[in-house]
Amino acid sequence: MANLGKSLMGWVDARFPATETYEYHMSKYYAPKNFNFWYFFGVLSMIVLVNQLVTGIWLTMSYNPSAEGAFDSVEYIMRDVEYGWLLRYMHSTGASAFFVVVYLHMFRGLLYGSYKKPRELVWLFGMTIYLALMAEGFFGYLLPWGNMSYWGAQVILNLAGAVPVVGEQLVTWVRGDYLISGITLNRFFALHVVAIPLVLVALVFMHLVALHHVGSNNPDGVDIKKVKGEDGVPLDGIAFHPYYTVHDLVGIVVFLAAFSAVLFFFPDGGGYFLERPNFEPANPLKTPEHIAPVWYYTPYYAILRAVPSKLGGVIAMGAAIAILFVLPWLDKSPVKSMRYKGTQSKIWLTLFVISFLGLGYLGAVPSDPIKTFLAQVLTIIYFLFFLLMPFYTSMEKVKPVPDRVTGGAH
Ligand code: HEM
Repeated sequence: MANLGKSLMGWVDARFPATETYEYHMSKYYAPKNFNFWYFFGVLSMIVLVNQLVTGIWLTMSYNPSAEGAFDSVEYIMRDVEYGWLLRYMHSTGASAFFVVVYLHMFRGLLYGSYKKPRELVWLFGMTIYLALMAEGFFGYLLPWGNMSYWGAQVILNLAGAVPVVGEQLVTWVRGDYLISGITLNRFFALHVVAIPLVLVALVFMHLVALHHVGSNNPDGVDIKKVKGEDGVPLDGIAFHPYYTVHDLVGIVVFLAAFSAVLFFFPDGGGYFLERPNFEPANPLKTPEHIAPVWYYTPYYAILRAVPSKLGGVIAMGAAIAILFVLPWLDKSPVKSMRYKGTQSKIWLTLFVISFLGLGYLGAVPSDPIKTFLAQVLTIIYFLFFLLMPFYTSMEKVKPVPDRVTGGAH
């Protein structure tokens, strides 16, 4: 039997690099042995991506992408389709879970300088994934054709109207109609279920190819390839399979337990994962009392509202996302990890986190003059974190980085 298996693999390998690929990415991919909690979120992002793809395909089987049928088809899924409620909640709560894990995954990058040379492309692919994910969430949110779907899309699409000269035509072109209609819903459906998922999967593939080409960073920001044994294997590296596959399973089980708890007991996340007005069908004549995007967009929404002019707000919001792309070139520090960076970097990262969370809160609640002022202050802090980075990272005193990683496999 073993011989048959071997010769079959030999036949395949002569025609397709199966064993070679498996070894390169799994059994002979040497990852630093000091990965910690923060290194679970890449694999968790992959788990949630698969969840979204699979539940999405099943939802599509019963969903009707028309202005007349969309809302009712979601009700039908929730009430009549076998386990339809579970599929729908796995997908809608899954969207929030996606952003939770991706935000933590990105924060890890900031913490350990994972975006720095030679991982700039890993970061750029990651940022493009983040953009695609935001687009995916936006297009998907219109599909249930609830009242917040309608008015949320109305607010965001109208932002394109701020573009000078061609703004209005641009909005009409994107919408495909003079108001948000079944035509808009149909194109959002096409983008949400086909175009963006294809792009996302391709980007995740490139993200991982780029990562495995240069090797993973680690909490110490030490290059493990510098110290190799006689066999050419980094002394601080352990084979991804079986060591990290088993290690990651622990994280996956804990995550699934937490995800199930939310899924079965608070699927609407107290109105943050599924907003209340979305339990009513879209109604162009009835504006919800308070239009707020889903929580994962609210930091940017707060930045948009903090700037008095519409065009200025759109530019500031775009810049807040765009500046993350150039992060690898703003950080001039000789060290990667926050463990060895100076006090200023630590203070700025803390301020950045406070500004991001604060803006997230302010974007979710109705604005008043005090809150707008606060949002303006936090927006300035948000940008200063990036704009001052070339200065504080090059001027501060850093700690010496050890040659080998600290702490071992656990
Ligand atoms: C669908 C979304 C994503 C998936 C499935 C994904 C997957 C992964 C995986 C499996 C890893 C290796 C394991 C780990 O280091 O945690 C990784 C590493 C990395 N990812 Fe992502 N990722 C996603 C989004 C992002 C985003 C949005 C960013 C940042 C903008 C990003 C930046 C990085 C960086 C810098 C690394 C290298 C970390 C290091 O070696 O220290 N990723 N990603």
